[in-house]
Amino acid sequence: MASREHFGSRAAVIMAMAGSAIGLGNIWRFPFIAGQYGGAAFILVYIFFCLLVSLPILLCESVIGRRTHKNTVGAMKELAPGSGWKFLGLLTVIAPVILLSYYSVVGGWSVEYLYKAVTLQFRPEAASEVPGMFGSFVSSSGRPVLCLFVFLAITAGIVYLGVKKGIERFSKVSMPVLFVLVLVIAVYSMTLAGSNEGVQYLVRPDFSKLTPDALAAALGQSFFSLSLGAGTMLTYSSYVSKDEDLVASGAGTAVSDLLFAVLAGFAVMPAVFASGIAPTAGPGLVFETLPFIFAKMGSAAGFMSAAASVVFFLTILVAALTSSISMMEVGVAYLVEERHVSRHRATLGIFFFSFAAGILCSLSFGPLSGVKIAGNSIFDFLDKLCSNWLLTLGALFFCLFVGWKMDKSAVRDELTNGGSRTFNARVFPVIYFLVRYIAPAAILLVFLSGVIG
Ligand code: PFF
Repeated sequence: MASREHFGSRAAVIMAMAGSAIGLGNIWRFPFIAGQYGGAAFILVYIFFCLLVSLPILLCESVIGRRTHKNTVGAMKELAPGSGWKFLGLLTVIAPVILLSYYSVVGGWSVEYLYKAVTLQFRPEAASEVPGMFGSFVSSSGRPVLCLFVFLAITAGIVYLGVKKGIERFSKVSMPVLFVLVLVIAVYSMTLAGSNEGVQYLVRPDFSKLTPDALAAALGQSFFSLSLGAGTMLTYSSYVSKDEDLVASGAGTAVSDLLFAVLAGFAVMPAVFASGIAPTAGPGLVFETLPFIFAKMGSAAGFMSAAASVVFFLTILVAALTSSISMMEVGVAYLVEERHVSRHRATLGIFFFSFAAGILCSLSFGPLSGVKIAGNSIFDFLDKLCSNWLLTLGALFFCLFVGWKMDKSAVRDELTNGGSRTFNARVFPVIYFLVRYIAPAAILLVFLSGVIG
């Protein structure tokens, strides 16, 4: 087998990991829940949870990946030979492939909406038709499937090129671009008349809204946003060289993810409030409300609003792509290393599998809308299965593995590079305590609130 690839620098590691982390979750969920649950008060709690819970879990995945330089299954087999822990590896191969199948459906929608934006379909005279466009688009069968194909093909193309030539190169170009794009929309959005209310929605601290629900939402959002429990961070960390500082790259990833989420809030909410529409989360916000706003603004701002819609959907597409690439890489690394399949075949195999499953998810908005699994559409079922169960369980077991099963000295060794990172060595006892006690308790809380709620 060819020797394993490594990311070339710390910047490359952070860009790839932040690429996985920054995605649809930052754009269509964070701004809304931040506003709904108390603005700046929620953001403070969110930062607190990121530091005390999510970052330690990210470090658990990093420790396992970098220690072994293997895929999720290979890593568990090496660290706990002959034990049931290899099922954790398998769980975290299956979860991201399922996630990829339905995430790519939405990725496909962003392809279509970018096309619509470029071909000036969000014109002022058509503004009233814009919100309705979404319903008729997703419930049709041909076009969303074609867009799904295009999105998955781009994802597979990048993964196919490999870790350095594909993932690293794409992340290094796309991440800075993504930050510039979201900044451009944020500035545009905040200059619209009436946008101040939206800014207030995000920044006005309202501590009375910090209910238990708000806390669970903050935790759940920070797990999903940092791509925890799916084996993506483990797999990316397995491409990190031994002299890299895992704590520094983990912290860089968490800060970038947070910064992007806040910027996305300033890009989205001021525009929503400027147009007097009630804020929502999810597809409605991104594919109905915002294009409607861009179209309405068109009469006043012409070129600017057309450009804003192109920039906005390009942002969504690129953010979704950097995440979908990380999901596909988990399965590809497994097939290549454990099943001895060539990288090209492995990529094609996962591409076809997720395309087939993605078609079912896509059709569940139209012809297959009557098919229900446990009362949910196929898309919603897979989303709940992944977000509420598989990812949460994956995160919990990674945490338990590193905190309770792995040799403590091996964990310290990885996080301090054999003791040579003095700052990391000083904070290690804190990280280890968070990993053993605080993070598993917090995951259980999210798990229960997701399953019960
Ligand atoms: N972090 C991504 C987002 O916020 O959209 C979603 C995600 C990507 C979750 C990769 C899990 C994963 F493994």
